[in-house]
Amino acid sequence: MEVIIAPDRHKAALLVARIVAKELRADPRLVLGLATGRTMERVYACLVDLHRGEGLDFSVCSTFNLDEYIGIPADHPCSYRRYMDEHLFAQVNVAPGRTHLPDGMAPDLGAECRRYESLIQAAGGIGLQLLGIGSDGHIGFNEPLSALRSRTREKALTPSTLEQNAPMFGGDPAAVPRRAITMGVGTILDSRRCLMLVTGESKAAILAKAVEGPITSMVTASALQLHPRCQVVVDEEAAAHLQGIDYYRWIFANEPEWAEFRGA
Ligand code: F6R
Repeated sequence: MEVIIAPDRHKAALLVARIVAKELRADPRLVLGLATGRTMERVYACLVDLHRGEGLDFSVCSTFNLDEYIGIPADHPCSYRRYMDEHLFAQVNVAPGRTHLPDGMAPDLGAECRRYESLIQAAGGIGLQLLGIGSDGHIGFNEPLSALRSRTREKALTPSTLEQNAPMFGGDPAAVPRRAITMGVGTILDSRRCLMLVTGESKAAILAKAVEGPITSMVTASALQLHPRCQVVVDEEAAAHLQGIDYYRWIFANEPEWAEFRGA
């Protein structure tokens, strides 16, 4: 795992978008794993800018989102399908048929989870997985105590996640669906590269647990420590509780891989 500290949330999101753009230019058929949430909105805005300004091409890539709420239709204003359409898909040249999210309205949710895993496999696996972190340490909707080898399945959301996501549902945690389909921790760890973005002081304590704490199903993001190629891009506010901050800065300043991203 590598931690990259950007001066602020905007530069952190831009750095993530530039890493995605570099991967996409190297492999236009990239299979992208996508996340939703407020943190990711800035990344998608940067990717839209790169598409419009530099012709970043999404035409032959495929996308698989981490999760979707159960019980709200795709055209519901708070569905993750709607979020993706609004923030990215409708603004770039991705082929709609190549964009995938779990179907939270499927009559047989277990079959839908198995279908989603098969689709990912049939696409050749995820090349680059974008991730945020929940206030309870989740990645996707892998809430505390999720098995670290779990696959796509249904999960009940924790009260802390309902609270975190309430602003998208008019501020009322009771309005947030109680369950979701999510890729499992094992599904995420199978991605060839993981890229997590964490910003803001409200995430500082959980970020430190995920990056520097023990690997535990109580903080499913800590499982990323097992991944052979995982970068965590953070802003100064989110980095506030990290013990190894000087070391992380030194790595970013000295690794040749990051030369083109420094000073951006
Ligand atoms: C949603 C997802 C979640 C979010 C996390 C952070 O698709 O994967 O794990 O990334 O809950 O959400 P925000 O950015 O809204 O704090």
